[in-house]
Amino acid sequence: MTPQRASWAEPYKIKMVEPLFLTTRETRARAIEEAGYNTFLLRSADVYIDLLTDSGTSAMSDRQWAGLMMGDEAYAGSRSYYHLEEVVRRRYGYRHLIPTHQGRGAENLISQVLIKPGDVIPGNMYFTTTKVHQELAGGTFADIVVDEAHDPRSLFRFKGNVDLAKLEALIAEHGAARIPYVSLATTVNMAGGQPISLENLRAVRALTRAHGIRIIHDMTRVAENAYMIQLHEPGHAHRSVAEIVFEICSLTDGATMSAKKDALVNIGGFLATNEDDVFEEARNLVVIYEGLHTYGGLAGRDMEAMAIGIEESLDDDHIRARVGQVFYLGDKLVEAGIPVVRPIGTHGVFLDAKAFLPHLPQDAFPAQALAAELYLDSGLRAMERGIVSAGRDSRTGEHCYPALELVRLTIPRRVYTQAHMDVVAESVQRVYERRASIRGLEMTYEPKYLRFFQARFRPRPG
Ligand code: F0G
Repeated sequence: MTPQRASWAEPYKIKMVEPLFLTTRETRARAIEEAGYNTFLLRSADVYIDLLTDSGTSAMSDRQWAGLMMGDEAYAGSRSYYHLEEVVRRRYGYRHLIPTHQGRGAENLISQVLIKPGDVIPGNMYFTTTKVHQELAGGTFADIVVDEAHDPRSLFRFKGNVDLAKLEALIAEHGAARIPYVSLATTVNMAGGQPISLENLRAVRALTRAHGIRIIHDMTRVAENAYMIQLHEPGHAHRSVAEIVFEICSLTDGATMSAKKDALVNIGGFLATNEDDVFEEARNLVVIYEGLHTYGGLAGRDMEAMAIGIEESLDDDHIRARVGQVFYLGDKLVEAGIPVVRPIGTHGVFLDAKAFLPHLPQDAFPAQALAAELYLDSGLRAMERGIVSAGRDSRTGEHCYPALELVRLTIPRRVYTQAHMDVVAESVQRVYERRASIRGLEMTYEPKYLRFFQARFRPRPG
């Protein structure tokens, strides 16, 4: 590790730029109406600062771009596959690798391989795509995250922790044989990008080992989680992020990865496992859904860029600047008195829409309405993470009413500057000042799966 400086700066300089264009309020009003008040349905040409997601939106390095040129496009046995396999083994410690087109491809494979109808899959809060694949395989997700994770005001440092008593109760109720694995995410996206501590993970490992239950690790943002451990968990300040990441992975049996986040690529993911028979089964399935097991839906160049991106993602200077930028925006909003999820998470700042718009009931979709209003104000694109994302209860058909009703300002890696963050903070403050005028929405179209992506809305009658 490098010595601490008083202030961090990005450990890179900018070699290529992509112009951004301001739009008028009239254009934005038309665009958001045409998009059914859903920021997923906006055209990016109509967006000024795009904080929809950190997924696939990172800037690649000169080395990654050079790697694209070196990609081996062989259908079978690509050199780039073996490069990626070597990096996954050395950096994460998982023995077997199956590339997939992105994270949900891996979620589909692991769910089909391990879940039988009637199984229960405990997890440290749900993630949208992860849960859907568990349900499609006949399983039921059970939330075992600590209660603090559901409280945007709790300052608990490790809101991604598993509540061991909840896990034990679940095992007692259903029996270990009905629990194929614990689905464990580093960090927890839906809680606001919150980390799990190493101490807690070690305890989860001990408990699951005693019952013969696997841990499948959603390692989408594992480097960011490791950085939070380095920063806040006693006894780890002297360790590198790379070392902590390796230990986290060693406490689990396999992993799904959306490489579009931590690993700094625009597309890609993988399934990793230490179990020979799980690998064998997943390798049979991948050819049906993704492609041959040595490319899994990716071009050789994508695997090459991913292998290089994984190495870059574990650099302490990189991760300090990446998360530091998120903290910069978060701290600015906290100072301005805006209700946000605290502590600030690692991949974005999450506005607490219930506290922002206390006059709106949850079925007026406050977070969806707030995201639309931010776009209208400045062309800033954010994402709803509340009742729309939570979907419906698969048994009763009713809306799920999550405790957290959030708008996520997600920061792509290595893309925007501090000045962009200032513009974002100013826009949020303007909207906060006129929050009482925000009316809420009603849904006019609802897709069956993952409705938040394509649902449409209109303003509630005033
Ligand atoms: N797990 C987590 C924790 C994620 O955040 C995501 C994606 C996935 C799995 C699925 O991966 O998109 O590559 O198929 N999150 C994106 C987001 C979509 O915006 O948070 P994917």
